Amino acid sequence: MSGKCTYHTTTASHDETIKLGACMGDQLSPGLTLGLVGQLGTGKTALVKGIAKGNNIPDHQQVTSPTFTLINEYTGRVPMYHLDAYRLKNPGELVALGIDEMIAGDATVIVEWADRVISILPADMVWIEITSTGEQTRTFHLRGLGEQACTFVEAMRRQS
Ligand SMILES: Nc1ncnc2c1ncn2[C@@H]1O[C@H](COP(=O)(O)OP(=O)(O)OP(=O)(O)O)[C@@H](O)[C@H]1O
Ligand SMILES: [Mg+2]
Repeated sequence: MSGKCTYHTTTASHDETIKLGACMGDQLSPGLTLGLVGQLGTGKTALVKGIAKGNNIPDHQQVTSPTFTLINEYTGRVPMYHLDAYRLKNPGELVALGIDEMIAGDATVIVEWADRVISILPADMVWIEITSTGEQTRTFHLRGLGEQACTFVEAMRRQS
């Protein structure tokens, strides 16, 4: 499939999702925001683990789910913030934690449950919808919503 600025792919295991994430991590550009959308246990955090790998984040900075910490920060080729909106009562909680400054800076910002905080996310971002289609199978639908995001999605298409 895939029209302009979209890319669709599937994985058949956790390891394949790590590999897909690693490919994304290799393509990250400073200032890019990625929004991850998908039900509980679809593989949002698994994808971020792969992104960290591709972004050269060393193993000792192990990626864990920010469900309770809300924000985890990592130092890689591109600095990376990993946020989780699942437990928030409202998007303003992320504003209070400084998400605007993170988005405005040179880091990559990755948000799990992005659909819950869409009002505070930038217009130019990559929207990634993950669907569980079986015990081990997942589909990933990427959409670039602006120029920088589109460049990222097109690079992913060329890699495939
Ligand atoms: N193809 C796959 N890709 C990713 N994870 C998979 C896949 N197949 C099975 N799994 C399993 O699905 C689970 C995904 O967990 P993960 O924490 O990444 O999900 P999540 O979307 O971040 O969940 P939450 O909404 O709780 O944050 C893991 O237990 C993993 O082993
Ligand atoms: Mg998660």
